[in-house]
Amino acid sequence: MLPSTTLSVPECTDVPRHIAIIMDGNGRWATKRFLPRTAGHVRGVQAVRRVVEACGKKGVDYLTLFAFSSENWRRPADEVSLLMRLFIKTLQKEVDKLDDRGVKLRIVGDLSPFEPRLQDLIKLAEQRTEHNTGLNLTIAANYGGRWDILQAIKSLLQARPDLAVNPQSIDETLLSDFLCMAFAPEPDLFIRTGGEQRISNFLVWQLAYTELYFSDDFWPDFGAKELEAAFEWYRTRERRFGRTSDQIAKKP
Ligand code: IPE
Ligand code: IPE
Ligand code: MG
Repeated sequence: MLPSTTLSVPECTDVPRHIAIIMDGNGRWATKRFLPRTAGHVRGVQAVRRVVEACGKKGVDYLTLFAFSSENWRRPADEVSLLMRLFIKTLQKEVDKLDDRGVKLRIVGDLSPFEPRLQDLIKLAEQRTEHNTGLNLTIAANYGGRWDILQAIKSLLQARPDLAVNPQSIDETLLSDFLCMAFAPEPDLFIRTGGEQRISNFLVWQLAYTELYFSDDFWPDFGAKELEAAFEWYRTRERRFGRTSDQIAKKP
């Protein structure tokens, strides 16, 4: 069990411990260049590489990237299929390098609709990096915040059928232990590129007290410099967690 921002006030550091990113704007990046949207997704993978490296250097503990939402199945079939192929190709190509750098890779989301080959690759990549102690890199694939909360409720009741007849005993800690991100502290910093200011069903539960940063850059243009700008902004935030400014100033 990890501390929860609503149950206790966490310690805040200059470098966020956990960053969660909605990598948005691939399609518009490509359209602006008269390229097919899929070219933007391909370029987006390079931005992932840059940001993973920069986070490793900065000493970030957890980086969580939204790669495919539970609503992205609504896209045209050829785009969905390109995204799946790109996911497979990227796993095949990048896992060695991630492993060399000590990255521990996890994929969260409802993986059941993915083709068996992709599910196998995911399992292998996770097994291969499970003992690494560097950056914790999590890719959210077919992830939805509401799906996550629902699957946590179902898993909790399966593990503790007694709670069904005694629902008053259900508390935040019991439930959050079954959420997909139970292994990580809640995100300190959320970044969304691409200019939209919404959560789009990402970590609905976990973002309760996260600082929200929105960048107009399209994801393929995002890199170490843009990440540093987000860190700078983050350092200016006063994270009150319900308290007043005076209370924070008086803290030893
Ligand atoms: C984000 O970029 C990548 C995925 C959702 C997979 P988009 O594809 O949403 O790019 P825009 O928002 O259409 O520009
Ligand atoms: C959110 O981006 C999902 C990912 C980046 C994977 P979308 O582009 O799908 O979000 P909406 O549809 O604009 O809210
Ligand atoms: Mg988008």
